[in-house]
Amino acid sequence: MAPVQEFQFLHGTKVVAGPGSAGSIGEELRGLGATRALIVTDRGVAGAGLLASVVEGLERAGVTHEVFDEVEPNPLAETTDRGAARARAGGCDAVIAVGGGSSIDCAKVIAVIGKFGGAARDYEGFDTVPDLPLPLVAVPTTVGTGSEVTRGAVISDAGRRLKMVVVTPRIFPRIAVLDPLLLMQLPAPVTAATGMDSLTQAIEGYVSRNASPITDALNLEALRMIAANLRLAVARNDLAALAALQIATTMQGIGFHNAGLGLVHAMSNTVGGIFGAPHGVTNAIILPHVMEFNLAADPVKFARVAEAMGEPVAGLSVREAAERSVAAVRVLSSDIRIPPTLADVGVTAEAIPEMTEKAMRNIDAPTNPRNYSEADIAELYRRCLKPVGAPA
Ligand SMILES: [Fe+2]
Repeated sequence: MAPVQEFQFLHGTKVVAGPGSAGSIGEELRGLGATRALIVTDRGVAGAGLLASVVEGLERAGVTHEVFDEVEPNPLAETTDRGAARARAGGCDAVIAVGGGSSIDCAKVIAVIGKFGGAARDYEGFDTVPDLPLPLVAVPTTVGTGSEVTRGAVISDAGRRLKMVVVTPRIFPRIAVLDPLLLMQLPAPVTAATGMDSLTQAIEGYVSRNASPITDALNLEALRMIAANLRLAVARNDLAALAALQIATTMQGIGFHNAGLGLVHAMSNTVGGIFGAPHGVTNAIILPHVMEFNLAADPVKFARVAEAMGEPVAGLSVREAAERSVAAVRVLSSDIRIPPTLADVGVTAEAIPEMTEKAMRNIDAPTNPRNYSEADIAELYRRCLKPVGAPA
């Protein structure tokens, strides 16, 4: 008889979903006892007018605010320190993140430093936050990451050329507001990249060594929803498709952060830390190569991945069906115009030794379903730099 699995499952965020839900943020914050909020965002989101419904909701509830719009892609530790200084100087008692994973991760750390002082580096690692930080409301404006429901933040440390993590249940956003109306202006390349981040996390979480029946349910259904809706969302900003992607992203966020990730994220985070390439794009490029490598570790689950992505697997052997999952990912990436190689996003072969060494030590690597060596990771990077089928 198979051993009965032991696992824990954490979830700490109230989810409020629906068109127009961003307008309810003021009342939600009032419910948390907040009176003055720091809105953490980037200039693109602010410039696109996406703060309007949030600000209107705050004003209606009598919650004052100020805006910190300096978040960059792959946010830097210095940015969190500056944002926290603004929160403290402004007497803010709550933080609202409006944006993608970068803004939400940045806001998590700003909420910590804003409450307890210090700098981002002081909170690196696991369970280093002494108590609950300023309450955070996360309002995603992309369909990637799931950071709105996770207890982790990834911050770039330029000095050390790496991404550091802050992980503790204390930084769960208190509320995630999923308003699909905020996604209507999403540029197609951003929908594509962030959607592929969600898809990668759903697959890595599903096949992770730490997956449980609860995370499997979340990740597999999220994968089904992403695969069914991403093309339509990219092609014409279809509201129903975007809303489905938004919910699926939150589902896989709850799933993967309980299950862990794997080598795709270990390798992709390393590329991002060195070259600053978009996270979702590097994930999408690396994903099929790592799936091919991992197939042998859990062919039954990869066969289910193929089925969830709409592949006709009836009548196939488990191994054949599992292989269809890799093909399905490649076709989806191509359909939404993800570049095919890491060379296309500026990665060079000279960096392989440094990337390999850092990926080996990356926090996401140990839950990869198949054992790996430095030589395996270096070979995977080499494959990611060349078009599929190119000579070795
Ligand atoms: Fe990710």
